[in-house]
Amino acid sequence: MKKLLAFLTLGFITIASLHAQDQKMNAFINALISKMTVDEKIGQLNLITPGSDIPTGSVVSTNVEKKIAEGNVGGLFGVIGTEKVKQAQDIAMQKSRLKIPLLFGSDVIHGHKTTFPIPLGISCSWDTALIRFGASVAANEATADGLNWAFSPMVDIARDPRWGRVSEGSGEDPFLGSAIASAMVKGYQGNSLADKNTLLACVKHFALYGAAEGGRDYNSVDMTKMKMYNEYLPPYKAAVDAGVATVMSSFNDVDGVPATGNKWLLTDLLRTQWGFKGMIVSDYTSLGEMVNHRQGNISEASIKAIKAGLDMDMVTEGYWGTLKKSLQEKMISITDIDRACRMVLEAKYKLGLFEDPYRYIDPTRAAKEVLSESNRVVARKIARESFVLLKHNNKTLPLKRATSIALVGPLANDKNNMLGTWAVSGDPQKSVPVMDGMKNVGGSSLNIRYAKGANITDDPNLARQANVFGLRVDIDKRSADEMLQEALSIARQSDVVVAVVGEASEMSGEAASRSDITLPASEQKLLQALYATGKPVVVVIMSGRPLVLTGSIEGAAAVLQTWHAGTEAGNAIADVLFGDVNPSGKLSMSFPYSVGQIPVYYSQKRTGRPIDPNNKFSTKYLDAPNEALFPFGYGLSYTNFVYSDLKLSSSSLSKSQSVDVEVILTNAGSLDGAEVVQLYVLDQVRSITPPEKELKGFQKLMLKAGESKTIKFTITESMLRFYNADLKHISEPGMFTVMVGGNSKDVLMKDVELK
Ligand code: BGC
Repeated sequence: MKKLLAFLTLGFITIASLHAQDQKMNAFINALISKMTVDEKIGQLNLITPGSDIPTGSVVSTNVEKKIAEGNVGGLFGVIGTEKVKQAQDIAMQKSRLKIPLLFGSDVIHGHKTTFPIPLGISCSWDTALIRFGASVAANEATADGLNWAFSPMVDIARDPRWGRVSEGSGEDPFLGSAIASAMVKGYQGNSLADKNTLLACVKHFALYGAAEGGRDYNSVDMTKMKMYNEYLPPYKAAVDAGVATVMSSFNDVDGVPATGNKWLLTDLLRTQWGFKGMIVSDYTSLGEMVNHRQGNISEASIKAIKAGLDMDMVTEGYWGTLKKSLQEKMISITDIDRACRMVLEAKYKLGLFEDPYRYIDPTRAAKEVLSESNRVVARKIARESFVLLKHNNKTLPLKRATSIALVGPLANDKNNMLGTWAVSGDPQKSVPVMDGMKNVGGSSLNIRYAKGANITDDPNLARQANVFGLRVDIDKRSADEMLQEALSIARQSDVVVAVVGEASEMSGEAASRSDITLPASEQKLLQALYATGKPVVVVIMSGRPLVLTGSIEGAAAVLQTWHAGTEAGNAIADVLFGDVNPSGKLSMSFPYSVGQIPVYYSQKRTGRPIDPNNKFSTKYLDAPNEALFPFGYGLSYTNFVYSDLKLSSSSLSKSQSVDVEVILTNAGSLDGAEVVQLYVLDQVRSITPPEKELKGFQKLMLKAGESKTIKFTITESMLRFYNADLKHISEPGMFTVMVGGNSKDVLMKDVELK
């Protein structure tokens, strides 16, 4: 009783003090707004970029200094480093009438200057504690460098690997995606936004951006509300529930209305249903792009957007150029502008910028904390956890340090592509290529020979497009045959071949959709020639997306998928190849067997004519299997995990009574290793057609060689809920299949009844 009282009192004090803090903030902002002219209010809604770093659209803002001095800017992005940030903040603080500090944003997508693996890679760690920690390290480094707003996490569910931006998200599954979304928001924002080493997170791209038709970037999206609610919206909602401070609207339309001007999306769903209280920013020129979406001229688009609930306009300057006139013409009201302005000011207030506009500008911190040795250690750890062992024959791995190694491939000794897409602040020259990593980890007596063997691609058109942000595809002066012969010669002289192939960084990411996602022809030719030598070939793949590997890896002894692994790529890859670390990553996105199968994802529904090889009129392709080449959740280890004795504590559960699921996991191999145990559920009869499997839980744990452990999950009624045809979140009584395994395909099963 005493404890309960203490708890209630504490709860009351916390709520009361929160209330007092809110009141203080409201009083401050009311007073400020009352002093602001309409122009100054609209100025706060203007987010622009001087374009000193990589702009992601064709437009770059002009006259930035003048605009800041005149109070026409709320925030800047693309300004990196304390010196430049200070210069800009000085203008706001010294020259603008009301001295309202600026926000400084950036695409801190996978680390800042210390670059972590691309987010799709990070998600394959399934380690939410590590992911949260990684985000906190990124926030620490970015704030030390003058920033206070990260345009991350990107949580768009993506099931079409032709879309280049699958690299930026956490793959195909809403449950895993939600867990990661929440972890990242908490990592970035910490306990208080006012701390010096935390920043505003920005969940994006709201919403459904990952479902662009045909995997073509910026394309239209069309889906039922049921699919939205059950499969695509959960990660955004998880970020909101985790307290994300800002949301970015997406480029696409949702239900026929561009997200940036979609009132249902930004107000009815996000603010009213989900209770989001923060600021909403557009994507890069997405406000202006509403004109291309045929929503009228820029002034009409701006009216639509502000009425829909969009607060800040990124780069278009549509609000800045048109809202005052629309106000005079009574097309909008001052309350629309005040609401948006308040949201921007609240974000600044929560960061503590009104107390100290220079809070995040501390060159001594920058010198110590940016690209520090300890941050590199974190980058290396995350990278190792993100790798997925796709194939492994004959115990080829781990490599013995005494063997002679032929290190071959266009990505084997390459710094330019280690960071991957969206590493806007990372310096590729600070990254560790595989060649250096092999020497660092393998030791000075390592017997290793290197040959490039092939270009990433011989296609000048693809190369040109991959080289927009600097040299990524370096087409060699030597002929393809000359390079190949050199590689074959060192392969023949060595015990084992390590071939590092895949995509250049900018072959995935924004505006990098591909209709053919096999390995480029130059690399395929190299691999086939290497297999023909008869030497064991370990293929290390770097890519920003699941590639179609059918036809390219059959001759390989082992295949390690390493994504674009960041600053410490080479060291981390060597750690795993030499067995200092046993790989434990599991795919967060299925690898298709062929492009024609796309979308292929594990949680597909059963059709009225389930697959039957003996029945022509069943759901199938004539020329390809229905299943992915490597399914969601899949990933091998150097050791061997065995699942047995799946048990349920009861044959039924109810609203008041959960059921425990237990399984025995045994490390039956001879090496210690980590495994991700996955729990899936099928609703056997449902009012709307259910997915055949839905992830409902996972646990990552380390097991010593020979060790067994009982793994326990608890299933409650609420975990079995879904959005029905009326968009009500309910469960329906009946039989469910509970499945546990090490990937989405190979599972043990038991039935349970929901009463
Ligand atoms: C991207 C966003 C990004 C923004 C700012 C846009 O092109 O879609 O993800 O945050 O640019 O760089």
